[in-house]
Amino acid sequence: MEKGLFLLSSPTRGEGECRGGIMDFYKLIRERESIRNYDPERPVDKDTLDRILEAGRLAPSAVNFQPWRFLLVSSPEMLEKVRPCYGRPWFADAPHILIVVGNRDQAWVRKTDGYNSLETDLTIALDHMILAAEFEGVATCWIGAFDPDLLRETLSLEENEIVYSLTPLGYPKEGFTKKMDKKRKPLDEVVEHL
Ligand SMILES: Cc1cc2nc3c(=O)[nH]c(=O)nc-3n(C[C@H](O)[C@H](O)[C@H](O)COP(=O)(O)O)c2cc1C
Repeated sequence: MEKGLFLLSSPTRGEGECRGGIMDFYKLIRERESIRNYDPERPVDKDTLDRILEAGRLAPSAVNFQPWRFLLVSSPEMLEKVRPCYGRPWFADAPHILIVVGNRDQAWVRKTDGYNSLETDLTIALDHMILAAEFEGVATCWIGAFDPDLLRETLSLEENEIVYSLTPLGYPKEGFTKKMDKKRKPLDEVVEHL
């Protein structure tokens, strides 16, 4: 995908550029998939990682409270401690693990019914980073089935903090190809026009 098309996007862009940007965004959405194949010998460079993290920093959150921390695990010592939280062999190959941590006390609470926006805010932040990674050609896989107790201890979280979700970051091994086969309910099953 041509990165420049996105960089052209601005309120002053011409109609053609705008259309081009939108088309590429939908291509990105269609082609992102959960990658369970990582080359341990191919770390992601710092500038690319910084742009991905910046996408999370810029994500919206209720009342702009930003109740999050993004922990990027890349050192061999910390990777060794964190990997057992999700014991799949492919996960152990990833050169980086991005962990989204949230603080429930820092999230917005709706007065009428006590709803706490923490998980919503953290989902948006991680999704921003996953889409940014896709844009950068970096593979991700949202992981929810990790061992939260192990991570809580390893990462020395505060009592009011939770490990929300994580994703490996890296590049697939040579020869890997995406499935390009989205299995989703049809639009007319999930959409109602009222
Ligand atoms: C909240 C959430 C939790 C997930 N947890 C896992 C997981 O623990 N392990 C895994 O391999 N994939 C996990 N996934 C990835 C889903 O299996 C994947 O997104 C889904 O099958 C659709 O495939 P796609 O991402 O390739 O489009 C998770 C995705 C989400 C959104």
